[in-house]
Amino acid sequence: MIATVRNARKLEGAITVPGDKSISHRALILGGIASGESTIRGLSAGADVVSTAGCMQALGVEIEGSRVRGVGLDGLQPPPRALDCGNSGTTMRLLAGLLAAQRFSSELAGDESLSRRPMDRVVEPLREMGASASWPPLRVGGGRELRGIEYFPPVPSAQVKSAVLLAGLYAEGKTAVVETVKTRNHTELMLEAMGATVKVDGLLVQVERSPSLDPLDIDVPGDFSAAAFWLVAAGLVGKANVRLLGVGVNPTRTAFADTLASVGFRIRQTNPRFEAGEPVADLQVGPADLLRPIRLEGNSAAEMIDELPVLAVVATQLPGTSVISGAADLRVKESDRLAAMEAGLTAMGADIVAQPDGWIIKGPRYLEGARVVSRGDHRVAMALAMAALIADGKTEIEGAECVDISYPGFFDHLEYLA
Ligand code: S3P
Repeated sequence: MIATVRNARKLEGAITVPGDKSISHRALILGGIASGESTIRGLSAGADVVSTAGCMQALGVEIEGSRVRGVGLDGLQPPPRALDCGNSGTTMRLLAGLLAAQRFSSELAGDESLSRRPMDRVVEPLREMGASASWPPLRVGGGRELRGIEYFPPVPSAQVKSAVLLAGLYAEGKTAVVETVKTRNHTELMLEAMGATVKVDGLLVQVERSPSLDPLDIDVPGDFSAAAFWLVAAGLVGKANVRLLGVGVNPTRTAFADTLASVGFRIRQTNPRFEAGEPVADLQVGPADLLRPIRLEGNSAAEMIDELPVLAVVATQLPGTSVISGAADLRVKESDRLAAMEAGLTAMGADIVAQPDGWIIKGPRYLEGARVVSRGDHRVAMALAMAALIADGKTEIEGAECVDISYPGFFDHLEYLA
């Protein structure tokens, strides 16, 4: 599908973004191994979360709407064939951890993009725990006893941390992950809420073998990483007044908002509350003062890994030279996001040069509508759509249907707001 997005003079309105993708995956997986029925309202309807639901069903978990009938920690059934994780790295890596600990072995497969992504980062710690695990293709599990380890991930990754913690629920002794930067902490929060023994001490997260997990009854908050696109659009379009309702504002997710604020964006949180142990608020955003360039170094990129494509769009409008570094992992996401954003924004007139681990972007530059490609990557498609809102004329985005991976209804929201 080719999406045509035109320059917008103003953006106005209130929207509810989809349920948080990371929390949705975890709720389906952990709800599936809880003892009893969970109720999970507001699950993301994105294709990635549908992949996780399909895999859990193939493992014998009944899922109907918001209800998940947990089979208990030892109640999963051997899947009849390879589990299809679609485009979803979170599905594949989290399930690798859970399934490494089962008495049966499982194969995890995915689409072309996912088949190219590195899985050695989960295979290595799982093997260290004593599991049978190999890649490619990814095969895990088969009855070996796991032992707890202390793991220091070489690349910051909430998916790897979660895989190790899930395996740790079944391992002898204590299983700890010690990070260099605190990645999203939804797994540990949810495990704690379900009665598991979880210890968090700074950058260390530790779990112990659990006899059982209590079922969940939660409302999934809105996805901050989806809201991020509208924060940018509202800041950059001349006239804007946008409200984003019920967005998850867990501090391990919102570093991007702090970066936007540091360059002149005005984002206000109202109506703060808690849902399922997670902080939630409405976000209000209007036009930004575009004050200074971005300088992102060291571990900061890892704290806003999913927002970096749209941060590149922001940098094209800031005065001076923005340097975004420490983001080499963007090369192995759903696409090579460093190359994809360089190509798309260059076609629109930006001055952006990809580096091995980031971009150098000089601004401000007028952007012009162009024909650009998503490379099948949802976040690239949506980031380029935000650039299109501030570009002259019209932009055509090839392969725009991939927004459904995390944000079905994205283009309806765009039309409503613009
Ligand atoms: C996610 C972790 C991040 C992120 C992805 C979702 C998660 O991946 O990019 O969209 O839900 O744990 P990494 O763990 O590879 O950084």
